[in-house]
Amino acid sequence: NKSRRYKIASIPADGIGPEVVSAAIDVVSKLAKTLKTFTIEFTHIPWGTAYYKKTGAYADENVLDVLRSYDAALFGSVGAPDVPDHISLWGLLLAIRGPLQLYANVRPVRTFPGTQSPLRTVGAKGIDWLLVRENSEGEYAGHGGRSHRGQTWETATEVAIFTYTGIERIMRFAFTAAQTRPRKFLTVVTKSNSMRNGMVLWDEVALKVSKDFPDVNWDKMLVDAMTVRMVNQPDSLDTIVGTNLHMDILSDLAAALAGSIGVAPSSNLDPTRKNPSLFEPVHGSAFDITGKGVANPVATFWSAAEMLAWLGEEEAKEKLMGCVERVCEAGVLTRDLGGTASTKDVTKAVCDEIELLG
Ligand code: NAI
Ligand code: MG
Repeated sequence: NKSRRYKIASIPADGIGPEVVSAAIDVVSKLAKTLKTFTIEFTHIPWGTAYYKKTGAYADENVLDVLRSYDAALFGSVGAPDVPDHISLWGLLLAIRGPLQLYANVRPVRTFPGTQSPLRTVGAKGIDWLLVRENSEGEYAGHGGRSHRGQTWETATEVAIFTYTGIERIMRFAFTAAQTRPRKFLTVVTKSNSMRNGMVLWDEVALKVSKDFPDVNWDKMLVDAMTVRMVNQPDSLDTIVGTNLHMDILSDLAAALAGSIGVAPSSNLDPTRKNPSLFEPVHGSAFDITGKGVANPVATFWSAAEMLAWLGEEEAKEKLMGCVERVCEAGVLTRDLGGTASTKDVTKAVCDEIELLG
């Protein structure tokens, strides 16, 4: 997009989603106005649980075509206390990730200045990892079924699918990502002792792809031992790649170890750029704090910053993250980070920092 005018689909959806997405729109709009190097327009799309209750569907049938008319999407969270989670997740988020082939889910975690990792084992700078989650296969591809319903012998399967193509493309993405970071170090997470088909294919593809990246050091971990290494030797890790299920779990752990799930962003990327990519905080609807005005908006700020970088506005991303860091350092922190600031306080503080860039 050479014009540097961006059209973004905003899908706040449920729980704290609307609170953090509207905060991020304020911050990014302020950034665009201040820097004057690009323009950005957010269009509200009302999909989510309220929409489902009104229309019977979480999103319109032409969800993919709608999204394709935008440069990217900024997403909040989907899930409500009174709807089964598999209905809400498959109705909206998983109806987008798979069909748009947003196969790379990139989840950086970092300990921000002025905040702390709960780990005693980590160095002074805290945690700085890049987690890469395969986003289109594994246990989350929808393979499986249920039979003998209502009987005590009722049977259900959740089939993990892994394809050479799917593994190879995420492995290449992860090696490339590791290569762009100073340490050039990748850890490949599998469970190839007990899962002897798909996970062994992962190991084989990792070895094959690694040959094309002679400057990247890499090692392998079984996922259970990986949880121990993350806690006991956090400084021994840098870039991490794994399956949809494994990295879903490890990325929540990573976020908590870095400081809070409230700061962890994610990018759902189509690296081929055929489809628009989707950016969202790692966290969910957070029913326990919905409507209280205390949700940490930083995860969504960072997600929006990653979106700007993906659109080609790398400098705007760096500036925005600088503002967020200065606000954290000044102690304007929400409860999850040990502070007392509200969502609005943090948003205003970041906007004030942006003002100073002008
Ligand atoms: P959750 O991430 O919503 O909440 C876990 C804990 O983290 C809660 O104590 C919550 O208060 C806290 N937390 C989360 N985000 C925070 C923020 N920004 N600031 C401060 N504290 C924050 O996970 P949970 O409870 O498992 O899921 C709740 C709902 O969200 C479910 O319906 C689930 O299916 C859905 N969900 C949706 C996701 C998505 O749309 N991508 C991802 C994860 C869960
Ligand atoms: Mg998750």
